[in-house]
Amino acid sequence: MAGRSVVVGVGHYLPERVVPNSEFEKTLDTTDEWIRTRSGIERRHFAADDESTSDLATKAAEAALADAGLTVDDIDAIIVATSTADLTFPSAATMVQARLGMTKGFAFDVQAVCAGFVFALSNANALILSGQAKRVLVIGAETFSRIMDWTDRSTCVLFGDGAGALVLELQEGEGTSDDRGILATDLNSDGRYKDLLYVDGGVSTQSTGHLRMQGNQVFRHAVEKLAKTAETALGAAGLGSADVDWIVPHQANIRIIQGTAKKMGLPMENVVVTVQDHGNTSAASIPLALSVGKQRGQIKRGDLIVTEAIGGGLAWGAVVLRW
Ligand code: UT7
Repeated sequence: MAGRSVVVGVGHYLPERVVPNSEFEKTLDTTDEWIRTRSGIERRHFAADDESTSDLATKAAEAALADAGLTVDDIDAIIVATSTADLTFPSAATMVQARLGMTKGFAFDVQAVCAGFVFALSNANALILSGQAKRVLVIGAETFSRIMDWTDRSTCVLFGDGAGALVLELQEGEGTSDDRGILATDLNSDGRYKDLLYVDGGVSTQSTGHLRMQGNQVFRHAVEKLAKTAETALGAAGLGSADVDWIVPHQANIRIIQGTAKKMGLPMENVVVTVQDHGNTSAASIPLALSVGKQRGQIKRGDLIVTEAIGGGLAWGAVVLRW
């Protein structure tokens, strides 16, 4: 017998405003054609001026709780993966806690940029397996539209806003890879690559700053590192690519997603793809894809899923779980 962190609910929220690629043709030297062929993105959602990351996170959390048939009274902890919290402090997670009416337990943010949800899932799993929490609400939520340089065509066309959430619950398994729940995780970072993807502002520099990226360099690292972390996590679970029902990748670029699936020897039929509709929503992209994948009827109970992501840091990792 072994404790497992099992997904018992999933949900998401996307802001109302949808911005197609053609919108950028009005203000930038770019085309719908370039954005589609280079990134796979066709449209993205942007939050309204009065909508913050904790607003999106709260709505995704409510959807996940409803899907689980649970209330906040059943939750011991909230983790929000985000790089775009409403305020410098307190955490977005404590804001969500208050908005949900949760007056017990604890809440905190995890910041690992686009890999944030993978890091948050791994932390939630550790809390559950060490007996510190029985049920954890894990949320990825971002408003990257707030850190875009709207004059930089190489970044501002790539990102979007949104939120997704999972409810994880401690359940007893057999201790084999047939168990439902998180089976293995693999986390990595290498701070030497800071300059490839960063925001040129922050509290210590007295500004919010804008996202800066050397896209083709990040692309190179992504193709090299994502299949490797996914295979490492699968190996730790005693599994291999052939056992995977769904890759649910971070949704940054369709060419990275295709390259990773190819390296893992899996066809695109085994990949949940939402990048065309959401753009890159950073830490929100994996829970969004899990929620949409379930809604579409792709992800079903018992399916073996591997999620993988890379982003600023560089930070990257993977989680293997049975749905
Ligand atoms: O989620 C965190 C991780 N982030 C990522 O995974 C993003 C990784 N990188 C990428 O997705 C891709 O590198 C991009 C989509 C950002 C760029 O694609 P690329 O094939 O690597 O293109 P590039 O950066 O090498 O640029 C090719 C050309 C350049 O022009 P020159 O120098 O060849 O004349 C750019 O100036 O495309 C130009 N370009 C654009 N042209 C039209 C860059 N952005 C645009 C644009 N419209 N929006």
